[in-house]
Amino acid sequence: MRANKASSGIKMWLAVIVVVSVGSCLPVKAQQNVVAQTPPMGWNSWNFFGCHLSDAIVRAQADAMLSNGMKAAGYIYINIDDCWQGKRDERGVLHANDKFPDMKGLADYVHSKGLKLGIYSSPGPKTCAGYEGSFGHEEQDAKTFAAWGMDFLKYDLCSLEGEGDQKAAYKKMGDALRKAGRPMVYSLCQYGMEGVWEWGAEVGATMWRTTDDIRNNFYIAMFMGFSQNGLEKFAGPGKWNDPDMLEVGNKGLSENESKGHMSLWAILAAPLIAGNDLAHMSKATLSILTNPELIAVDQDKAGVQGRRIWQQGPLEIWMKPLADGTKAVALFNLDWGEMPVSLQFSDIGLSGKHSVRDLWSHKDLGTFDQKFTVRIPKHGVALVRVK
Ligand code: GLA
Repeated sequence: MRANKASSGIKMWLAVIVVVSVGSCLPVKAQQNVVAQTPPMGWNSWNFFGCHLSDAIVRAQADAMLSNGMKAAGYIYINIDDCWQGKRDERGVLHANDKFPDMKGLADYVHSKGLKLGIYSSPGPKTCAGYEGSFGHEEQDAKTFAAWGMDFLKYDLCSLEGEGDQKAAYKKMGDALRKAGRPMVYSLCQYGMEGVWEWGAEVGATMWRTTDDIRNNFYIAMFMGFSQNGLEKFAGPGKWNDPDMLEVGNKGLSENESKGHMSLWAILAAPLIAGNDLAHMSKATLSILTNPELIAVDQDKAGVQGRRIWQQGPLEIWMKPLADGTKAVALFNLDWGEMPVSLQFSDIGLSGKHSVRDLWSHKDLGTFDQKFTVRIPKHGVALVRVK
């Protein structure tokens, strides 16, 4: 009896210990995912500003994101890319260069707007632009970024390329970020090498680049998006394939081409990281970036990455199933003239009559039997929702 009581007492304590320790693990796990249950949305400095970057420019982007409605549309991260770094001091602590006199102050400013701030580093000794990387200082830098109040780290392979175990290098920083204790989106950038989609989540990443650098060119952007076909099984809430930042608004793409680029990223459940100058953009660019019906497709809570369902020459149809049972479908025309494109409902697992809504014109187009046909201008897109 005594022995039984004692052992049941021990069991009870063991149970308490297990519950307590499981409980204390849960928030860490939960936090990791909380940062990106849907694909991260924000802005990054690289595509437009390159190394011509400063504290004032970053503040202006945050101001613009708030005042122009992008924040309300879901954009939240203001990400500083390469070229912010200064030197390490005698203790090895990394400091920003004189274009960023007060990183903590900058983070406070961005946070005061209800936005989040991101930073950039490399697992190698040098970044791609030749600035100080985090090699050998991973924990120290993770602590610095956390102390500054960073919410996002883009970690770019650069000088580590060809220099050993990438997975181990990315895990080192993943572990360091977890240890530093501040939830951050951990964004891997090694251009889709070594099947990163298979191990990105394992090293603590939230998203991983699957391609080389995007260019301000319609065909390159679309090719990069189309190359994602087949990677859909690796994406989902908290872990996203990243075909790189947006070029919408960067002049290389026409309005129709920008709509195509944006539609493809939404169908792919790709992170929507604007790469233009938010403080100086046209109304047309802003309305493309903030189309609420497109953003709802990208941010759909089921988190399914869409895939190609049909292709013929320069015409492609892609489909993304949504949480409410409807399907988002993008019909692309990469040809040089207007072309009719037909979606056969059987190709998206439907038969009979279905209603179709145009997510660019925000109009219900009516009910269609067996198929939906639309004429698409050159380099254009039709983005629809089939109910
Ligand atoms: C690499 C990355 C880009 C950008 C630059 C900065 O090319 O892929 O996105 O971060 O480095 O140097």
